[in-house]
Amino acid sequence: MAFVTLKQILLETREKKYAVPSIGADNHVLFEAVLQQAEAENKPVILMIPGFLLKEMDPCFFEYARLRIIQSSVPVCLHLDHAASYEECMNGIKYGFSSLMIDGSSLSYEENVTLTKRVVEAARPCGISVEAEIGHVAGGEGNNNDGNEVDVDAFTNPGEAERFAKETGVDALAIAFGTVHGVYKGTPKLNLELLDEIRGRVEIPIVMHGGSGLSDEDFRNAVSHGISKINFCTGLFLNTTEAARAAIEANGNKMQLPAVLGVIQKRAREEVSHLFEVYHTQSVDLKNIAHK
Ligand code: 13P
Repeated sequence: MAFVTLKQILLETREKKYAVPSIGADNHVLFEAVLQQAEAENKPVILMIPGFLLKEMDPCFFEYARLRIIQSSVPVCLHLDHAASYEECMNGIKYGFSSLMIDGSSLSYEENVTLTKRVVEAARPCGISVEAEIGHVAGGEGNNNDGNEVDVDAFTNPGEAERFAKETGVDALAIAFGTVHGVYKGTPKLNLELLDEIRGRVEIPIVMHGGSGLSDEDFRNAVSHGISKINFCTGLFLNTTEAARAAIEANGNKMQLPAVLGVIQKRAREEVSHLFEVYHTQSVDLKNIAHK
């Protein structure tokens, strides 16, 4: 069975120095494209759906997602991204996610700890992983209009990150060291010294949000300095839309929907393949992680 938790799928990342792509896949077209590419390359992958969409989506989608993942040949984690409340996380458990991100990063340190601990206490007995965020990554994915600015004042404090990981018992920790969600305003600059310091103090896997807009060199640096999971959504949405637009135009504006969806899936698979390469993602033997 290939359906695994976040803790399991990230287990070997630190030692083997690679990251697992965590990709926005809130519809069948992208979900299948991402998963099929992972299967074609025998690589682990995290499929994520943002918390705010839970109320809007047909619950049957989650049934399909679970059954599809169970039958997959590669390790796959179904991750609820940026849940804004305890209640949203409980819905994630109800719908069968194997991992939840509770985002208390806009709260005070104490409030973030309290909320995160409550989620961990509910999720752990169900065998579900929890990711949280300390410091704050600005912007919103899919926000592709004017671009988002990096908030240096909200960068993660290494001492707080160490305390937070110990006090909450989370399985993975998202940090802020130079990325934003959505489109960047200006050129991103990762603070790798800060990442090194945090990496030295935090033993659990560290997560980078806001992967879209970074260069291949940024990705390679982030991974070699200890990032285990990299979120990527906006770039996938923009680049697949652009591929569809270009194909429609190239066909005299006469393309029909099934062909357009095929173009989108092909481009999505190319994007995923590129991420596997620059994240240095390694194949995982299920036997090594199944009982962790
Ligand atoms: P991007 O908007 O840069 O793709 O980041 C997505 C993300 O971090 C989701 O949590």
